[in-house]
Amino acid sequence: MNIQSKLPAVGTNIFSVMSALANEHGAINLSQGFPDFDCPEALQERVNFHLKNGKNQYAPMAGVPLLRKRLAQKMEKSYGSQIDPDTEITITAGATQALFTAITAFIHSGDEVILIEPAYDSYRPAIELAGGVPVIYELHGPDYQIDWERFGKMISTKTKMIIINTPHNPIGKVRSAVDMQALDELTSGTDILILSDEVYEHLIYDGKQHQSILRFPALFKRSLMVYSFGKTFHSTGWKMGYCVAPELLMREFRKVHQFNVFSCNSFVQYGIADYLENPETYQQLSIFYQQKRDFFRRS
Ligand SMILES: Cc1ncc(COP(=O)(O)O)c(C=O)c1O
Repeated sequence: MNIQSKLPAVGTNIFSVMSALANEHGAINLSQGFPDFDCPEALQERVNFHLKNGKNQYAPMAGVPLLRKRLAQKMEKSYGSQIDPDTEITITAGATQALFTAITAFIHSGDEVILIEPAYDSYRPAIELAGGVPVIYELHGPDYQIDWERFGKMISTKTKMIIINTPHNPIGKVRSAVDMQALDELTSGTDILILSDEVYEHLIYDGKQHQSILRFPALFKRSLMVYSFGKTFHSTGWKMGYCVAPELLMREFRKVHQFNVFSCNSFVQYGIADYLENPETYQQLSIFYQQKRDFFRRS
């Protein structure tokens, strides 16, 4: 049969290849982002409770209201932002689905999307499937800074979106408030959207602060932010995440989301909502991860 692939350059992704090799050779697997420790027992208990107590049918399309309310509280405590849980948050099947949905909702054929590479591997195929054109800004060592003047030259009349990722996979670079201000200045007064992948928001060490878009009200107005419970609570196998965006953008996001997955796994949503009631569950995460980082550095 003559199949015209929509992604002719794509083979098996690097994570599957490396994980298979690690299994074959009994090697420690640092390639795929799953931890070798379990998710918190108290979270497992709450998820199990809701599984056993009838939360097994479709959740609302945008997500369980209590979970969205708790996430709005988390964002207020963490970044001082005022997010409307009804209109500005949608629960997704992991960050990957949120990224795919955001790109599909806004990118039309021929639109340019600026990607900062190396990058998480799902961005580029999602852009290509939407008919968009990836425009690559390459990072260079040793400091992997963004030269915003060089970056600005890549913006054209066709630029529809810029994808940023901080803390960054695979480099681990953390962008500063000055970077975010530069991004704001470059895109201010344009219709360019920012897709901000913040799944590693809690992997931040040595007293640094994660510079979420949520800290920058002007940038927030033209941004979609993506988060992952898999990364935050070391439960990557549950594939749960969420997208945050101003209502105008979230309305478009949900139009695609409802025909993409419609809604996500209900008992896990109820379980996470209960777990998030105590802010310490996320306020202690940087310390938790820094201990592991320090151990890794010493070893
Ligand atoms: C930068 C980045 N974004 C998104 C994801 C995907 O997150 P999820 O498992 O919630 O889809 C990953 C996973 O490795 C990642 O590294």
